[in-house]
Amino acid sequence: MKNPEAISHSTGSSQYLDDIPVLKNTLYGVIFGSPSAHGKISGLDLAAAHATPGVHRIFTHSDIPGQNDIGGIISDETLFAVDEVHYRGQPVALVVADSEHTARKAAGLINIKISELEPLLDPRLAMEKGQLLIPSRTFRMGDVRTAWQACDHVIEGRADCGAQEHLYLETQGAYSYPTDNGSIRIHSSTQGPALVQRIASKVLSIPMNRVEVDVARLGGAFGGKEDQATFVAVMAALAASILHRPVKITLSRGDDMRMTGKRHPYSSDFRIGLTKDYRILAFSSVMYQNGVAAADLSPAIMERTLFHTTNAYFIPNTEVTVHSCRTNLPPNTAFRGFGAPQGMFVIEAAIAKAAAELNIPARLIQQANFLKENDLFQYGQIALNVNIGKCFADLDREFRIGEIEKEIAEFNERNTFFRKGFSLMPVCFGISFTNTSMNHARALVHIYQDGSIGISTGAVEMGQGVNAKLAQVAVGLFSVDPGRVKIETTNTSRVANTSPTAASSGADLNGNALLIAGNRLIERLKGVAGQMLGCSPGEIVLRDEKVFRNEAPTEITWEQLVREAFLRRVSLTENGHYATPVIYFDKLKEKGHPFSYHVYGTAVITVLLDCLRGIYKIEKVLIVHDFGNSLNPDIDRGQLEGGVLQGIGWMTMEEVLFNSDGRMLTDSLSTYKVPDIYSAPEILEYRALETEGPGPALLKSKAIGEPPFMYGIGAFFALQNAIMSFNPSWKPDFDAPLTPEKVLMRLYDKK
Ligand code: MOS
Repeated sequence: MKNPEAISHSTGSSQYLDDIPVLKNTLYGVIFGSPSAHGKISGLDLAAAHATPGVHRIFTHSDIPGQNDIGGIISDETLFAVDEVHYRGQPVALVVADSEHTARKAAGLINIKISELEPLLDPRLAMEKGQLLIPSRTFRMGDVRTAWQACDHVIEGRADCGAQEHLYLETQGAYSYPTDNGSIRIHSSTQGPALVQRIASKVLSIPMNRVEVDVARLGGAFGGKEDQATFVAVMAALAASILHRPVKITLSRGDDMRMTGKRHPYSSDFRIGLTKDYRILAFSSVMYQNGVAAADLSPAIMERTLFHTTNAYFIPNTEVTVHSCRTNLPPNTAFRGFGAPQGMFVIEAAIAKAAAELNIPARLIQQANFLKENDLFQYGQIALNVNIGKCFADLDREFRIGEIEKEIAEFNERNTFFRKGFSLMPVCFGISFTNTSMNHARALVHIYQDGSIGISTGAVEMGQGVNAKLAQVAVGLFSVDPGRVKIETTNTSRVANTSPTAASSGADLNGNALLIAGNRLIERLKGVAGQMLGCSPGEIVLRDEKVFRNEAPTEITWEQLVREAFLRRVSLTENGHYATPVIYFDKLKEKGHPFSYHVYGTAVITVLLDCLRGIYKIEKVLIVHDFGNSLNPDIDRGQLEGGVLQGIGWMTMEEVLFNSDGRMLTDSLSTYKVPDIYSAPEILEYRALETEGPGPALLKSKAIGEPPFMYGIGAFFALQNAIMSFNPSWKPDFDAPLTPEKVLMRLYDKK
């Protein structure tokens, strides 16, 4: 089925937040953020800003009727700073005026006095000073201490990976207005409408039933709107409820880049031990997560890192610790992969370093350690339906890895200043929120008298195509024309207490809830048809908008059946609730069965490196990916290609830089480079793994949002191999992103 939104997206008629027609009397808010990364506020002079014609009010922490607390997991984050600031851009005040222009001008006239404190930017330093956001956690299996003795090779090193800006096309925004009886409506650019509702209720001190959050769709999110859409939404709601007027806030690109958190950078020490036939006997790592000024989602991201530190490998003895460190940068947050890419980078770095020291291709180590059926993950889950070996075998059969390696070796023989490199990147990604209690969803289905169907779920459409997948599920289930199905906006008054659309699980959870609701409606309709035809409902099938009895078409159409059900006073509305079965996790033992299933895949990446300039081209990305039984191959292709490119960007060109004062140096598109069409791989080909999907996923499909991102990690190691071919005396280090500047230094490093 075609994505029903494809036409309206490309013709510009799909409504995003900024397209909502504004009510008369709408006011506009601009946030005044801290000009300092760390300090005590000793004075705040709002007089000049207030005096600006067109300014209605300036809000600070003292205007909050409820709690000045927007922490999603931990109560450690204020909506407005009180007496201290912890990062540059931290909201201090909200200026509300007749126009955004006026509000911005007035915000520039706010005079804040800050007694500066030294900003802490390095997570290792934060750790030394005891600045942790939450208690550290360790996952372990077997016994690394004794295992080291049994290893023939033990290799140690350090791996650093950088932040990443989400760069969703649509910046954070919200539009809020009072409805009646002290209630408020918020249109928010959030992945988590129920979170916005809960926090707004806390800040405004009104019950949740008086806060209605509505999301039509987002112009991209990538995790950046899971937690960090909240402050904008709550500020708009606060101003609207106090001023009794509609208030709109849309962050400028610069404000969005400076104020909101990114992917967490990690700095890690690792140790890996191998036998002489390259089996990894032991792996240990201590990882410093740059969690920054407030916890935000850091605890959950730390957890997903721990779950993915052994990627697609079985390692019998492991011990991995993550420290979540408090620094003076904007609160880092969810970003596609949610900590897993950072964890996988470390194990791949350890393997690459071992390979370099043993002077063998890394893929020999990778292949020797792939997970097998019934192996144990270090968190206690038994690996089932393991596909990594098959992915690799299919990849080899389809794309002939040996030949690619041979071609590259020959190319490197023939050329002096151009070199090629190659890497293999296996991926094993767990599906389910690691917080078991979040794995449930609801769907509310109305069949209207004319046979059209309205569906509300907790899923937020953010360009990933979840609405199309849900519509497809409904079309298949009711066997009606796609034109009959409408996916409604995501709204907290229709579907309550939802989890954010995240963890690649939007379609799985909400689609299953939709199946539950839909099947109940179908049972009722079959009952009506049975009454109409004087037969048992078991003889009835609904197909192609017609009622079939014992496989023979009857005269009754879908429309007639629905109309008849309505006249017979049968309910045409149903609410479905789905909770992922089986999963659990014991945080005291750090063991359990946290994931419903795993998604597997393997990629080969080749690069061409210009050794005079340090610039490079990603030549080929060849993938075998386990889509399960794809619900929509076009949508899944978009997710796969976009994920790969975003992963390559993180590993190669996207560099978030701060100066020593904690000022972001890369706060515009002229200083922050994301992959464009020119940096896309010349060839990106993939095959779907030929396999039956396992039971728990939606109609045997598999989650697609995050897993492909991690194929991009291979770009880093492919580049390293090209550098080593040119400069054999270089000892590989692991400091991502590997920008052309860094490549050039390494090409001529003679240590
Ligand atoms: Mo996603 S990074 O789980 O919003």
